[in-house]
Amino acid sequence: MAEIRRVGVLGCGLMGSGIAQVAATAGYDTIVRDVSKEFLDRGRAGIEKSLAKFVEKGKLPAADRDAALQRLTFTTAVADLQPVDIVIEAITEDLALKNALFKELDTLCGAGTVFASNTSSLTIAEMAAATKRADRFVGLHFFNPVPLMALVEVVRTVTTSEQTFKRAFAFAASLGKEPVAAKDNSGFIVNLLLVPYLLDAIRAVERGVGSVPDIDKAMVLGCGYPMGPLTLLDFVGLDTTHHIAEIMFKEYREPRYAPPPLLKRMVLAGMYGKKSGKGFYDYSANPPIVNNLGL
Ligand code: 3HC
Repeated sequence: MAEIRRVGVLGCGLMGSGIAQVAATAGYDTIVRDVSKEFLDRGRAGIEKSLAKFVEKGKLPAADRDAALQRLTFTTAVADLQPVDIVIEAITEDLALKNALFKELDTLCGAGTVFASNTSSLTIAEMAAATKRADRFVGLHFFNPVPLMALVEVVRTVTTSEQTFKRAFAFAASLGKEPVAAKDNSGFIVNLLLVPYLLDAIRAVERGVGSVPDIDKAMVLGCGYPMGPLTLLDFVGLDTTHHIAEIMFKEYREPRYAPPPLLKRMVLAGMYGKKSGKGFYDYSANPPIVNNLGL
């Protein structure tokens, strides 16, 4: 089994930059590609901030931070990923865009290169089928914030070879993460269970079961969750959750995956959560206050 030494990451957003950070920290030469220097600069700044936090907390020696930063390269050229041993795609949830990149890299990368997608809800099979390496294709699903969350779902689709699955599983463990094996079902394990819960929390708001902060408080104090569902929705992104729910609804045709009307309206209004400044909470205030949704 060929050793993985060089890692390529497609996308330098929240997930891509986090994946690149953990790969570089784990000792891999890592190259991250995004479409513009602006996106790359933002991702790099996020990585530097996160690594600084770990150093400040005594969780990472300053020399290791410097070494991790040295191992990171940023590029806008897809062709720069040609020599990598594994490609991890973490771009927007757009199948056509993902497949165009995978197709391009399929002709550039060597036969030993594993392709992986960090998709939250699309099927791995439909990406694998766009390449001539469907046996060397897996899902590697990380969680936000990637540097802090221990889990990686390693997703095996119908075409994934045993060797590729084992290689990807070992690679995830080498990042200091806890891998679990998941089947190529839309949502895998975590989102299959998490998304209906988050959508139900929105339905609870719609029905006036409790106020936004009380619903959050109830789940934090009643179930010991680190964040309430509405805070988590703002954190993950309402647009992202809406998109994932639509894909899962299409896959399973079950009402519990259907985006509730309030979610749709908030997304239409540009209330994406933390990233846009407003969601169930208003982040222009410190600490954030409840956003008046006129309910
Ligand atoms: N890098 C380094 N440090 C970070 C960081 C990062 N990326 N993000 C946060 N931190 C630091 C904070 O700055 C903070 O430092 P401080 O103690 O000095 O202030 C520390 O970590 C702890 O953060 P918080 O004070 O915010 O407190 P928490 O104890 O709540 O920890 C959390 C944060 C780990 C995010 C925790 O709230 C949590 O586990 N939340 C749930 C997250 C979750 O469910 N994620 C999964 C989302 S679903 C998903 O990703 C799947 C996708 O497909 C949708």
